[in-house]
Amino acid sequence: MEKELNYNYQIVKQFTIATVFWGIVGMLVGVLIAAQLAWPALNLDTAWLTYGRLRPLHTNAVIFAFGINGLFAASYYVVQRTCQTRLFSDGLAQFTFWGWQFIIVLAAVTLPLGLTRGKEYAELEWPITLIIAVVWIAYAIVFFGTLIKRKVKHIYVANWFFASYILAVTILHVVNGMSMPATLTKSYSVYTGVQDAMIQWWYGHNAVGFILTAGYLGMVYYFIPKQANRPVYSYRLSIVHFWALIFTYMWAGPHHLHYTALPDWAQSLGMVFSLVLLAPSWGGMINGIMTLSGAWHKLRQDPLLKFMIVSLSFYGISTFEGPMMSIKTVNALSHYTDWTVAHVHGGALGWVGFITMGSLYYMIPRMAGKTSMHSTKLIDLHFWVATIGIVLYIAAMWIAGVMQGLMWRAVNPDGTLTYTFVEGVKATFPYYVIRVGGGLLYLSGMLIMAYNTWKTLSGTKTAVAPIPALATNHA
Ligand code: HEM
Ligand code: HEM
Repeated sequence: MEKELNYNYQIVKQFTIATVFWGIVGMLVGVLIAAQLAWPALNLDTAWLTYGRLRPLHTNAVIFAFGINGLFAASYYVVQRTCQTRLFSDGLAQFTFWGWQFIIVLAAVTLPLGLTRGKEYAELEWPITLIIAVVWIAYAIVFFGTLIKRKVKHIYVANWFFASYILAVTILHVVNGMSMPATLTKSYSVYTGVQDAMIQWWYGHNAVGFILTAGYLGMVYYFIPKQANRPVYSYRLSIVHFWALIFTYMWAGPHHLHYTALPDWAQSLGMVFSLVLLAPSWGGMINGIMTLSGAWHKLRQDPLLKFMIVSLSFYGISTFEGPMMSIKTVNALSHYTDWTVAHVHGGALGWVGFITMGSLYYMIPRMAGKTSMHSTKLIDLHFWVATIGIVLYIAAMWIAGVMQGLMWRAVNPDGTLTYTFVEGVKATFPYYVIRVGGGLLYLSGMLIMAYNTWKTLSGTKTAVAPIPALATNHA
C-alpha cells in the first residue's frame, strides 16, 4: 500500500480521460464520413466539412488521439508498476500530456482547413511534425528513464513492446517526415516518385506494426494476466514472437504498393515477409488466449476479460486476413475496394479498440481509488453494443468489397466491361447504410463508457481496487 502512494497515477488518469474524450470525437467524425459516403449531400457544400478533409481528421483522431493517448496511459501505468518505481520525471510527463493534447488540437484545426502533406497518416505539416518530435523525445526520456531506475532486475515483457513502439515511431517519424518547407503551411517531401511511395508505405505499414500492434501487445501482456490472475501462458513464446514480429514487420511495407511502379522483386519480397508475419502475430494471439487456460469460466461474469479476449480474436482475424490480402493475386481483387476498409476496422475496432477499452476499465477504478467501475452492467452493455457494431461494420464492408472487386473486373465476351463504375457505387449503397448503423452502435458504446468513467471518477473514494501481484511463470 505504501508503494501505491509512490506511483504517479495523476498522469495516467489524465491520459485515460483524454483517451475516452478523443475516442468519442474521432468516432463521431468516423460516423459522419461513413454517412457522407452513403449520402454525399452531408458534405453540406462547405469546404471544411467535405469528406476529403474530414477523412484524415478521422484517421488522425482515432490513431493519434484515441490510440496514442491510450498507449500513454497504459505505458505510464505499466512501466511504474512493473519497475516498482515512480516515473522518471513528473514534470516531463506533464509536458508530454499537454504537448500531445496541443498537437491534437493543431491537427483538428489544420486538417479541416485543408493543410496537409498529402501522406496518409503523416498529413500534419512540418511545424507540427517538429513539435511531435520534441514531445516524443520527452516521452522516450520518461519511459526509458523509468526503466533505468527500476527497482527490479527483470524488464517485464510488456515493457519490451512499449519500448519498441516508442523507438520505432521515432525512426519512422523522422525518416518519413523529411521535407522541404516552402511556406509555414506548405512543405514538400524530400523524396520523389517511387522512392517517396516506398518510404511512405514503409512508414504506413510500420505505424500498423508498432503503434497499432506492438503498443497494444504491451497492454495484452500486462492487463490480461492481471485480470485473469494467471501467469502468461509461455514467457518464452512472448520473447520469441517479440523479436520475430519486430524484425518481420520492417520488410512488409511493399504489400501496399502491389502492381505499381515499385520493382516487381520488391513487391514479391513484401508479400513473402507479410506471409511470414502470420507466425509471430499468431504467436502473440495464442499466448494471450492461452493465458486464460484454466480460467475460462471467468469469461462468463467478467466483461473486462470479454473485451480482452474478443480483442485477441480480432487480432487473429486481421493478422490472418492481412497476409492473405498481401498475396498479389488476392490483392488484385481487394485493393481499392472496401475489403481493405473491412480489414482496417476489424483491426481498429476489434483489436485496438477492445484491448484499449478493457485496459482502461481495469485502470479507471484504480485511478479513482474505487474497488470497481461505477456499473459492471454498463461495461457489459458497452461490450455487446460495440460487438454488434463491429460485426455490422465489417460484414457489410467485406461483402461490399468483394462485390466491388468482382464487378470491376467482370468483362463481356466482346471484351467490354460488364458494369459501369457508377453501377458498382449504386450496388454498394445499402452496405454503406449498414456501416453507418454499425458505427453508431460502436460510438454509443463509447458514450456509455464515458458516462461510466465519469460516475467512477466523481464522488468519494471507497477503497482501492486490489492489484494482485503479476503472476509470472519465469524466474
Ligand atoms: C465509430 C467508429 C468508426 C467509424 C464509423 C469509422 C468509419 C470510417 C470511414 C467511413 C472511413 C473511410 C473509409 C473509406 O475511405 O472508404 C474510415 C477510415 C479509417 N478508419 Fe475508421 N471508423 C471508426 C473507428 C475507427 C477507429 C477506432 C480506428 C482506429 C483505431 C479507425 C481507423 C481508420 C483508418 C486507419 C482508416 C483509413 C483506412 C484506409 O485507408 O483504408 N477507425 N473509418
Ligand atoms: C500480419 C499482419 C498484417 C498484414 C500482413 C497486413 C496486410 C495488409 C494488406 C495487404 C493491406 C492492403 C494493402 C492495399 O491493398 O493497399 C493492409 C491494409 C491495412 N492494414 Fe493490414 N495487415 C496486417 C495486420 C493489420 C492490423 C493488426 C491492423 C490494425 C489495425 C492493420 C491495419 C491496416 C491498415 C490501417 C491498412 C490500410 C492502409 C491504407 O491503405 O491506408 N493491419 N494490411
